[in-house]
Amino acid sequence: MILPLARHGSGRMPVRARCAAACLALALAAGIPPASAAATPAATAQPAIPDTIQQRAKACTSCHGEHGEGAPDGNDGPRLAGKPAGYLLLQMRYFQSGQRRNAAMEYVLRQLDVPYMGKLADFFADEQVPYPPPPPPTASPAELQRGERLALHGDPSIGVPACNSCHGTRLTGVQPLIPGLLGLSSDYLAAQLASWRNRTRAAKEPFCMGVVANRMYAADVNAVAAWLASQPPAADMRPEPAAAQTTPLPGWCVMSGQVSKP
Ligand code: HEC
Ligand code: HEC
Repeated sequence: MILPLARHGSGRMPVRARCAAACLALALAAGIPPASAAATPAATAQPAIPDTIQQRAKACTSCHGEHGEGAPDGNDGPRLAGKPAGYLLLQMRYFQSGQRRNAAMEYVLRQLDVPYMGKLADFFADEQVPYPPPPPPTASPAELQRGERLALHGDPSIGVPACNSCHGTRLTGVQPLIPGLLGLSSDYLAAQLASWRNRTRAAKEPFCMGVVANRMYAADVNAVAAWLASQPPAADMRPEPAAAQTTPLPGWCVMSGQVSKP
């Protein structure tokens, strides 16, 4: 389904308020009555809420947007729409196991099982929402040039491979576990690279980004985030099929030990 670009109006709500709204939606979707309803006599009980995937996703859309298009600045709730389902599910499992730290996400997911999260991952992966045009870059031309070099050619002198050697030639990601890097804000990209450097996003496997991010100079993080965020969306933003990855991944990039679906 192709949807017009719609911005949800709740982007400026404080995180705690959005989590409260989201967590109520989650409880309702899971059939758990809210605390106030428990004290309400049966005659005035809430009407039954249908258990559809759209209903379940309401627990997520206050931060991630109605169709997973992401909050305007991307940091309050990054885009989920169109990312590989395997990648989305793995991230949810990392939030649950503490390998990726974020208080809101850990709270929202704490009671969900893997099949339930898998359905949410499939739902958001299938959403096709247009990407907004990139904002004008604020970085200097020299910074953007350094960012472009890292993204498309890497820097062998510090052992950093080109980002597009793993993230797809068009940087739109590769199924099933590698997300695209276009259409994300420079703040979100830089925050993720920083989180691998300070180990708040320290996935055991695949540990590829822990290596890449820690080999970069601090200034490289902002440079590559600024260049990526300044790129117009590709004509086809879908992640490439797994077969498109023809160059073998470096030995330290462990993709085989992936958490499998039960
Ligand atoms: C209160 C706001 C909030 C709610 C509600 C919320 N999220 Fe998130 N989510 C975030 C933030 C903030 C991040 C980014 C965390 C980070 O920087 O690592 C995130 C990250 C994610 C990621 C990782 C995205 C990526 O590209 O790596 C996934 C997947 C995700 N959320 C799924 C969900 C699902 C599914 C739900 C509903 C069950 C949900 N979220 C509800 C705020 C929220
Ligand atoms: C050797 C392969 C490899 C290379 C090279 C690589 N990446 Fe990644 N990247 C990955 C994998 C695998 C993931 C998924 C990580 C996970 O599941 O936690 C990822 C995830 C990411 C994410 C998270 C996106 C999101 O939506 O949260 C960012 C940002 C990122 N990479 C940036 C970069 C940048 C910038 C470069 C180039 C400097 C780069 N990557 C080079 C393999 C690679």
